[in-house]
Amino acid sequence: MRTMITPQYIVRRIVHPHATPSRESVTCFAPANIALCKYWGKRDTILNLPVTDSLSLSLGDLGSRCHLRFCEKRDQVSLNGEELSHLHPFVKRVSNYLDLFRQDRQAFYRVEAVNTIPTAAGFASSASGFAALVMALDALHGWELNASDQSILARLGSGSACRSLWQGFVHWQAGTRPDGMDSFGVPLTDATWPELRIGLVMIDRAPKPIGSTEAMLRTVETSTLYGSWPTKVGQDMSELLQAIATRDFDRLGSTAESNALTMHATMLAACPPVLYWNSASLNAMQSVWQARKDGIPVYFTMDAGPNLKLLFPESAHTSVESRFPELVTAGAKAEDASP
Ligand code: PMV
Repeated sequence: MRTMITPQYIVRRIVHPHATPSRESVTCFAPANIALCKYWGKRDTILNLPVTDSLSLSLGDLGSRCHLRFCEKRDQVSLNGEELSHLHPFVKRVSNYLDLFRQDRQAFYRVEAVNTIPTAAGFASSASGFAALVMALDALHGWELNASDQSILARLGSGSACRSLWQGFVHWQAGTRPDGMDSFGVPLTDATWPELRIGLVMIDRAPKPIGSTEAMLRTVETSTLYGSWPTKVGQDMSELLQAIATRDFDRLGSTAESNALTMHATMLAACPPVLYWNSASLNAMQSVWQARKDGIPVYFTMDAGPNLKLLFPESAHTSVESRFPELVTAGAKAEDASP
């Protein structure tokens, strides 16, 4: 669906044009996040407004660091130390996003982005990247925006970025307003779970065959299973919130795994179908199920790609690692929801 409300209009509502830049350069960090209840389907494709709520856990020190300053002539972007050509698709995406914030047409930015999450191993960094960029824009310009407004701005870059402004558990409230001013992340500040871990299992580095935006659109428009997705999300959100409140690991893990499988089922029923898994993904899922049969508390979740993310308590770390030796474990800071 298309709206008449533009991202430029939203930025003008949030950002005060008369603030004067307070610093010459800034560096900000935002964590990556993994959804336990997924965002799948947009009610507005321009403003990245979701059909449903979603809930994520941030990955501690795995994420993106953004160093930002002004520069001349044109935007400059480096990624993990490599200077990118202005024709690179990543630079175009960043530059288009920066267009929303330029106070005059001669204002250009130099962005040095460093991902501490292994992107070469196929783990998405756009959420932490856009969140870190928004934090850096705010600090560079001296806007002093509150975190909800920063979350709205990050959402305009990539939907799931609105959950990357905080550590810990974050609830993205879908909101109902056409302008999306009520659609932003809210950290579960009382939720602590220091024992909870997320491990990343790399299956394949190949770029995904279809981007998440297009896959969501196709699912919403053609999948006969999509009609039941909002009900599923409603049930899973309340299960997850209760599991977090009572630190019930099996309830959390089984709900997250079922939520991810249901999201993928809606895609499989799209026309033409969307399948992000390969045979190694299936083998890894079966290994997780076997590990559980053998008494190891571990569940998986998966996003728009073939890789798995494993949920387990710290007490099972060694046993999980023995089944998945390539595991990259995040110090997911479920005990700390501060920005
Ligand atoms: O924020 P996007 O457009 O990259 O979409 C993210 C979609 C999923 O990762 C599959 C689910 C989620 O909630 O993060």
